[in-house]
Formats: sequence, structure tokens, C-alpha cells
Amino acid sequence: MTNSSIFNEQVESWEESMLLYHSALKKMQTKLEILNDEFQHVHQYNPLEYVKARVKSPTSIAKKLKRHGKEINIVNMLQYVNDIAGMRIVCSFTTDIYRIADMIGRQNDITVISVKDYIRNPKPSGYKSYHMIVTIPVFLSDKTEQVKVEIQIRTMAMDFWASLEHKIFYKFEGDAPDYISRDLRDCSEIVSMLDDKMLQLNEAIQQAKTKQKEVEE
Ligand code: GTP
Ligand code: MG
Repeated sequence: MTNSSIFNEQVESWEESMLLYHSALKKMQTKLEILNDEFQHVHQYNPLEYVKARVKSPTSIAKKLKRHGKEINIVNMLQYVNDIAGMRIVCSFTTDIYRIADMIGRQNDITVISVKDYIRNPKPSGYKSYHMIVTIPVFLSDKTEQVKVEIQIRTMAMDFWASLEHKIFYKFEGDAPDYISRDLRDCSEIVSMLDDKMLQLNEAIQQAKTKQKEVEE
């Protein structure tokens, strides 16, 4: 086999892999729209503020394989990089996070590979989010592939913290002075207080509404 035929073979499966990851995200997005509509129907509000999906760039995939001490090739990419297809689900309230995670886990065609609950167990940085690695089947003309997707579920407040922390930390290339790391952790606590307060307010409003209905009936 000449070098050029190996190269072509790889390009073909690279393109096929990317097609699979993009398709998996499309399927996940449709599922979430349906769950959101159903949630609206049952609970009278939309739990999803927004959903973002992205396929990891080739540079980031290569960097990750390198970081894990793996040779850069497609077989290793498929096996070791779990977040090539990534989805971020941003919810209104902390309770929505677990409801959405449950709803995703109960879908017959989805297999949950792993879960990391950084809400109950925040990272030392103060990072909070609920992470799931799942597989979802993608049906091609001649075969079905189970494709891995990383799902991050968080509230708007958690998302606000994570976005800014990422920007700030990036500037220091992960080597921020202690007082900045400490302040970021403090901010994460404030974010949790805000989430708790908003949840309490929402519950109080729901109760007030129910009472009002009872009076009217
Ligand atoms: P990665 O190699 O970074 O993907 O980590 P991992 O495979 O051990 O997974 P983990 O669950 O720790 O983190 C996956 C993703 O969560 C990251 O790619 C980030 O998007 C996000 N994340 C994790 N920790 C932090 C953090 O401290 N700050 C921010 N802003 N995001 C984080
Ligand atoms: Mg990642």
C-alpha cells in the first residue's frame, strides 16, 4: 500500500466520523425540542433557556490525544475522545437539570456511558455542571453506528460563571494567582446562592398561583 492510499483511506473515515458526530448532534437537538415541548405541556414553562452544540475542532482533538499520551489517529480519536460531539443545555432552575438528565437517560435509544455530577461535587475551581457521556444511534444507508455525545447541563447562572472563569483562566494559561482562584470560588458560591433563591421564588410563585386558582374555582 502506498502512502497516498493510506492517506485517502484516513480522509474517508475522518469525513465519515465527522458526518456521524454532526448527525448525532442533530438527533439530540430534535429530542430536546420534543422534551422541551412536553415539559411546557406538563409544567407550563420551558425548562430550556438555550442549547448549544459543537463539533470539536481537529486541532483540539489532536491536542487532547497528545495530552492523554495517545498517537494521533482516527481509531484513537473514536475510542478516547468522548467530547467530539458536545452539547450544552442551559436550564432555568437547578431542579430542571436533574429532570432533563432523567428524561435523556430514559430515552430507549440512548445509552448513558458515564455521569459526572459537578453540582453535588463541584470541581476545586468552583465549576458546577452535570455531565453525561451518552451514545445515540445514527442510521446510515448500510449500517447503524452508536455515536458518543458529551452533554453538559447547567443553569444560566452556572453557565455565566463557567464562561467568565474560562476567559479569565485562559489569560493566565491555567496558572492564575491564588487570590484570583479564591475569588472565582467565592463567585461560584454566590452563583449557587442566586440559583437557590431563584428556585425558591419560582416555587413560591407556583404555590401562589395554585392558591389563586383554588380561590377562583
Ligand atoms: P477535559 O479533558 O477538559 O474534557 O476534561 P475531562 O475529560 O476530565 O472531563 P470533565 O468532565 O472534567 O470536563 C469536561 C468539560 O467540562 C471541559 O471541556 C469544560 O468544558 C468543562 N469544565 C470542566 N472543568 C471546568 C472548569 O473548571 N471551568 C470551566 N469553565 N469549565 C470546566
Ligand atoms: Mg472537554
